[in-house]
Amino acid sequence: MARLRKSRKFFGAAGLHADAPGCPSGASADFFALDPRELFTEAAPLEVELGAGKGDFILERARMFPRHNFLAVELAGSVCQWLAIRVARSGLSNLRAVRADARSVVNLMLPAHSVRAFHIYFPDPWPKSRHSRHRLITASLIRGLARCLEPGGRAYLATDVQWYFEQAGALLHQGGFRIGEASVAGAQRTNFGRRFAAEGKAIYAGCFERAADAGVPAQCAPPAATV
Ligand SMILES: C[S@@+](CC[C@H](N)C(=O)[O-])C[C@H]1O[C@@H](n2cnc3c(N)ncnc32)[C@H](O)[C@@H]1O
Repeated sequence: MARLRKSRKFFGAAGLHADAPGCPSGASADFFALDPRELFTEAAPLEVELGAGKGDFILERARMFPRHNFLAVELAGSVCQWLAIRVARSGLSNLRAVRADARSVVNLMLPAHSVRAFHIYFPDPWPKSRHSRHRLITASLIRGLARCLEPGGRAYLATDVQWYFEQAGALLHQGGFRIGEASVAGAQRTNFGRRFAAEGKAIYAGCFERAADAGVPAQCAPPAATV
């Protein structure tokens, strides 16, 4: 909570509506809502990149798809400064950046069924168990993705870490997602993706779709199988 309060000024600049009419005073989940209708000038399908880094992928994609809206979420202050400058210089009205923890954005801030696609590229794996609490892809995040996605929405994932991909795939499967046919646009188009591809490193990537009859899972069990 303290972290969210501290970041409020920044969120305000990014379009968060702490002062919006009807927003209750005092602590409430609504207080931190991130309303796409207030972030963008046009209503359009929303794509969200979690851990966008300096934004290579989302800047390119926002140029390619002017009829979609894009939100870049980045936690690290110095990286997000780069990202924010690049977004501002791009002049793109369909692209916004927010400095926030992607877990809060997905679990608390975005409205249900508001997102057409999530992009998660090369998330830090935090392999040591004592650091695992920092890992982005958990059962809790996947419940949040399921809540935020439109019916038929997609989560795109790429990583160079095989066990993380397998673990994430198992969690997504248990959370009502199935592997889709679509190619993963960002796998070689982010800063890290380009670098790993140039080095000839293996990249594990998948497009995960919400099964039409999946509903929102009450609970995701720990990973049991690999993709
Ligand atoms: C390895 S970098 C990959 C950046 C970019 N996706 C790419 O492929 O070039 C991981 C990024 O995720 C950001 N990050 C890590 N945890 C995050 C979180 N909980 N919320 C938002 N961003 C996060 C890091 O600051 C870093 O910029």
